[in-house]
Amino acid sequence: MNYENILVETSENIAVVTINRPTKLNALNRATITELHEAFKLLNNSGEVRVIIVTGTGDKAFVAGADIAEFANFNVEDGQKLAALGQELLFDYLQNMGTPVIAAVNGFALGGGLELAMAAHFRVASDNAKMGLPEVSLGVIPGYGGTQRLPQLVGKGRAMEMIMTAGMVTADEAKAYGLVNHVVPQAELIDFCKGIAAKILKNSPVAISRAIEAINANYEDGVNGYNVEVTAFGESFGTEDFKEGTTAFLEKRKAAFPGK
Ligand code: COA
Repeated sequence: MNYENILVETSENIAVVTINRPTKLNALNRATITELHEAFKLLNNSGEVRVIIVTGTGDKAFVAGADIAEFANFNVEDGQKLAALGQELLFDYLQNMGTPVIAAVNGFALGGGLELAMAAHFRVASDNAKMGLPEVSLGVIPGYGGTQRLPQLVGKGRAMEMIMTAGMVTADEAKAYGLVNHVVPQAELIDFCKGIAAKILKNSPVAISRAIEAINANYEDGVNGYNVEVTAFGESFGTEDFKEGTTAFLEKRKAAFPGK
């Protein structure tokens, strides 16, 4: 499939999705959000791709936010629609995908850019990365889940400070906060993420997708995550992956998971 604003490369069960609007520091306009939705949906349902890495083109920005030019003239209703549609198509969609998504944060991740990285299942940053939610400096608040996911990751007090000051944190600060898992030199970022992906690829894709579901349940209002875990755990015993995983262990060989 041909896209205008993103690049998708797939090799050995790993897809790299690159947001490709370098002249706008990869800012997320409506078209880019739609293309990302289409691409993630195709990859998630492909049966072939088992880990996705999302990153930005160039060495300066992951994503410098939602496209400010696009919403500058919006009214109240337009604003609500923008946030609701974006959350549905991209941010919530990504978070709930069964295929693991790693955000490779290769530079500025601001506003919608940090919100995109936070919707991914976990994050790795390059040493030049800078992250923040500067929306209040524009007179708006984060609208793509930032007020919810940032406190989940860094704690309420730090999230309050980051959002109120509209400031940026460095990659090392982000690691100390628990916002990113690793910080690596920029030139090594994608290979480092592929290395993590290679470890994930050894494991059961069915079990991984159910684990994502159970972990996410911890953050859903009115859902008992322990019950979700019990159900998903029980259902694991009915999968071909479970038979293969346990048989391979007992036969002292590496498992070749069918993904069913
Ligand atoms: N939306 C739309 N365009 C954006 C953008 C955004 N979020 N972020 C950057 N751009 C555009 C700039 O307008 C500029 O375009 P132009 O060359 O046509 O004028 C281009 O990307 C380069 O950005 P520039 O500001 O010149 O780069 P810089 O190195 O001086 O500054 C940043 C980099 C990231 C600090 C700065 O671009 C910035 O503050 N961006 C906005 C961040 C933000 O508030 N995001 C939250 C949005 S809700």
